[in-house]
Amino acid sequence: MIRKYVFGKMIETEAVVLQIQDEQLSQFPFFSTDEKSFSLKLEMSDKDKVYGLGEAVRGINKRGWLYKSKCSDDPSHTEDKNSLYGAHNFILLDGEVKFGLFIDYPGMITFDVGYSSYRELKITLEDFNCEMYVIEGESKLQIVKEFRRLIGTSYIAPRWAFGYGQSRWSYMNADEVRAVVSFHKENQLPLDSVYLDIDYMERYKDFTINQDAFPDFQEFVHEMKEQNIHLIPIIDAGVKIEDGYDIYEEGIRHDYFCKKENGEPFVAGVWPGRVHFPDMLHKDARKWFGRSYHFLLEKGIDGFWNDMNEPAIFYSEERLQQVFLQIQNYSNQNLDIQSFFSFKNLVETINNNPEDYKAFFHEMNGERIRHDQVHNLYGYMMTRAAGEAFLELQPEKRILLFSRASYIGMHRYGGIWTGDNMSWWSHLKLNIQMMPSLNMCGFLYSGADIGGFGGNVTEDLMLRWLAFGIFTPLLRNHSAMGTRKQELSEFEKLPVFRNLLQIRYGLLPYIYSEYMKSVLNHEMYMLPLSFVYEHDERAAQVEDQLMIGESIMIAPVYEQNARGRYVYLPETMKLIRMKSLLDKQYQVLEQGVHYLECELDEILLFLRPGKILPLSKGGMNMEEVDFNDLSFEVFGDRAYYKLYQDDGISKLYQAKEEWKNIVYENAVIITEK
Ligand code: GLC
Repeated sequence: MIRKYVFGKMIETEAVVLQIQDEQLSQFPFFSTDEKSFSLKLEMSDKDKVYGLGEAVRGINKRGWLYKSKCSDDPSHTEDKNSLYGAHNFILLDGEVKFGLFIDYPGMITFDVGYSSYRELKITLEDFNCEMYVIEGESKLQIVKEFRRLIGTSYIAPRWAFGYGQSRWSYMNADEVRAVVSFHKENQLPLDSVYLDIDYMERYKDFTINQDAFPDFQEFVHEMKEQNIHLIPIIDAGVKIEDGYDIYEEGIRHDYFCKKENGEPFVAGVWPGRVHFPDMLHKDARKWFGRSYHFLLEKGIDGFWNDMNEPAIFYSEERLQQVFLQIQNYSNQNLDIQSFFSFKNLVETINNNPEDYKAFFHEMNGERIRHDQVHNLYGYMMTRAAGEAFLELQPEKRILLFSRASYIGMHRYGGIWTGDNMSWWSHLKLNIQMMPSLNMCGFLYSGADIGGFGGNVTEDLMLRWLAFGIFTPLLRNHSAMGTRKQELSEFEKLPVFRNLLQIRYGLLPYIYSEYMKSVLNHEMYMLPLSFVYEHDERAAQVEDQLMIGESIMIAPVYEQNARGRYVYLPETMKLIRMKSLLDKQYQVLEQGVHYLECELDEILLFLRPGKILPLSKGGMNMEEVDFNDLSFEVFGDRAYYKLYQDDGISKLYQAKEEWKNIVYENAVIITEK
C-alpha cells in the first residue's frame, strides 16, 4: 500500500510515475512532523534497522550515522563522509513497524539515522515543499517492490554491457586502445568494451574528437566493432567556452546555459578550463543537449558515461577572482595558527563551494529557480537528456548509459557507477555493501571501479575485487591518471584473471536473466540476506554476504592476506567452489556458521535448495556466448528455475509467459517453454 502526502508546493522532479491520491497531512503516519524546523521524527527501538539511501557510505543497515542527500563531487569516500555522488531519498524501516518512506524533494535532506540520538530517526529538509510516500507491505521485499512500481521500471542495458570493460584515465590514442584489445585476445581474456576517458576529445570539449590521437574515429569504431569491442566515450557536464566551437555557440545562441542573477551565463572551471553548464532542467535545453550525442552515435558509438554532473565545479569565475585578490594579503605575513589555516582554507574551499551552487539559476517551465534548490536533479536531467534523445534517435536499440550523479527517477534512463573510489580493501567492502542499497532505489545496472580508481592497486586486491565484481551488472576496471596501471596485463597471475573472467561469462545466462527479471518485476538483483530470510535475526546481522537473484548466495573475501572467511548459511546450501568454469568442487553445508577456506584463485558460490543455476560455456566476448547451450547446477531432488532470455539488444522484452521453466526431477532437466 502506498500513501502520498503533499507538503507545500514541490518543484516537479518526475521521479514518480504512478498517480496517487493525496492523503490528509494530519494523518501522516509513524513520524511526528514539525513544520517549523522542516523535520520528521520517529522513535526507534534498539533493534530497528534502517535500510536504503542508495549510494552512501557505511553498511547495509544505515543505523548510527548522519547522511546528507546532496550530490557531491568528493573522491574521498571515507566513512566520516555524509554524502557521495547520488541523492537517493528512500529508506526502509525494519522493526516493530515496517515501512518505506520516499521523500521526493530536489534540495538537500539530512537523514540522522540514530546518530545524534541512537533511538531517534530525524529527517530534516531545507523547506517543506515536497511530496512524501509511505509504503507498507508484508515484507521488506514487498515494500521495495511497491516503491519501485511507484518510480517506474529501471533502465535496461544492452546485454553486451554485462561483459568485461577495460578503462583508464585515459587511453591517449587509438594505438593504446588497440594494445588493450590485442592483449586480451592473445591471452584469452574476455573483453566487450574499452572506455574512452576525457582525452579522446579535442581539449575536453564535449562532442568533439581529438583528431591527432584518433585520426579516423568512425573507422576506428568500426575496426573495434569488427572485433566485438564497444568503445564507450565519456561526456562531461560543462561546455567549454570557445568561439567557433559549435556546442558552445549553439548554447549561447539559444540561451540554453545556466545563468547568474544578472542574466549572464554562469562561468565555472572544470577540465577544459572555463565552461558553461547547459540548463539540463530546461526542457528545450535538455532536448538540445541530448540530440548532441548524435555526433557520436552516427559514428557507431553505442554507449556513454556521463560525468562531472553533480555538477562538479573546480572554481567559479567570481571565486577565483576573490581568491587571487585575498591571497596577496598573506604574502608578507608571518603565517601563524590562524592566518596559516585561513590561507590554506582560502584555496581548499575553492572547489564545489556551496556559495557557488547558490550563484546560478535554472529555468523550469518558465520559472526561474536557484540551483541549490534543485541541486540533486542536475545529473539526473543530464542523463535523461541523453536517454530521451536515444529514444528519438535510435528507438529500437538499447544504448549503454550510466552516470556519476543521480537522483531517483534517473534509474529509468541509465545506470550509475559509484565514482572515484580508491584501491583500498575497505572500498571493496563498501562496494559489496552499497550494491543492495542501490538496487532498492532502482539502480540495478551499476557497479564500482573494480580495483579502485585512486591509489595503487595490488594484485591480491585486484583478484578479490574481480571475484566480487563478476557478479555486478557493470563490470569495469577503471583507474586514475598517475596511479599504478591496472590493466590485467600488469599482473602476474594471468591464468587466475582469465578463469575469473571466464566464470563471469559462464554465469552470464543467469546474471542477465536475474537482472532482467528484477527490472521487469521491480525486484532486487543483489539483496541483503535478510531480504530473503525475512525472519532470520542472524541473517539480518550479515553485512558481507549477498544473495544474487533467486538461486545463489555469495561470500566474497575482502581482507588482505585472508585465505578464507566465516560464512553464515541461513539454510542448508550446496557450496560450489570454483577455480574455473571447468574446475568445480561441491560440498553440502548445513545451516549455520562455517569457516571456509578461499584461496586467491577461487570463488565460493552457494546454491539454494530447490534452485538451479544455468551456466554457459563462456566465450571471449558476448557474441561468443551461446545462451542456448547451457549446463545446470542443481541442488536437491527437485529443483526449478525460470529463465529469461531475449536478443539482448532490441526492446522486445520477453513477457512473463514466455520465460522458460527449467525443471529438474528424477535426475533429469527439462526445459519447458
Ligand atoms: C572523474 C571521474 C573519473 C574520470 C575522471 C576523468 O574523476 O569520476 O571516472 O576518470 O573524472 O575524466
